[in-house]
Amino acid sequence: MRNIISDTAFVRRRAQLEAPVNLGEGVIIGNWVKIGRYSYLRDNSAVGGGSEIGRFCSIARGCEIGASEHPTSFLSTHPFQYSNRHFRRTTGYRQFERVTFEEPQGAKIGHDVWIGAKAIILRGVTVGHGAIVAAGAVVTKDVAPYTIVAGVPAKPVRKRFPDDIIARLLAVKWWERDLAELDGLPFDDITLCLDILEQPKQSNV
Ligand SMILES: CC(C)(COP(=O)(O)OP(=O)(O)OC[C@H]1O[C@@H](n2cnc3c(N)ncnc32)[C@H](O)[C@@H]1OP(=O)(O)O)[C@@H](O)C(=O)NCCC(=O)NCCS
Repeated sequence: MRNIISDTAFVRRRAQLEAPVNLGEGVIIGNWVKIGRYSYLRDNSAVGGGSEIGRFCSIARGCEIGASEHPTSFLSTHPFQYSNRHFRRTTGYRQFERVTFEEPQGAKIGHDVWIGAKAIILRGVTVGHGAIVAAGAVVTKDVAPYTIVAGVPAKPVRKRFPDDIIARLLAVKWWERDLAELDGLPFDDITLCLDILEQPKQSNV
């Protein structure tokens, strides 16, 4: 299976895409990013280095996931203190005595997460499986599985399902199955869907 990557998307060399992944125009994927199969990012979304995105995630236009952080307690917030990245070829900038800045880890997005247009997910944040991030939200704290969050800073709005259904969804891990195994499920009847997915797999022997 092949990834679908628009001509203007930019994927850094050390990113890992589990095909098929679909990247729209102007999407930027940083180094060490991992993205699971059937996830797609619409135009102009960006994923910062080391962030992880699970399978079957829908990421709308203009989202920022795990954008880099700068130090807040150093002399300056400017990277000249710990990196030569932005002015590598500038004399006096390249060789310069620097300190180390430990950036928080990338954002971690679970499986089956829907992120609405222009949402921002900060580094170090984990968004649980099945969660929804509303359009324009700024997510500063972890989001529990199957929870809808909205606003700046994002706060829980409601859960997608009752707790017993969420527990069954998290146990059945449907995103680990081949697409063919999901073909024809009664997707709009969550209880029936789970009843079917929970049945032991038929052996061919
Ligand atoms: C969050 C969303 C999925 C709706 O979820 P929902 O649970 O059905 O939410 P409701 O419409 O019932 O609204 C619940 C509350 O959240 C608020 N809310 C909904 N979306 C919001 C948003 N984007 N930002 C801030 N608050 C929002 C509503 O105003 C409402 O507040 P209230 O209880 O004070 O009246 C939807 O509003 C959204 O943001 N969709 C993303 C659309 C998008 O970006 N699509 C891109 C294509 S992939």
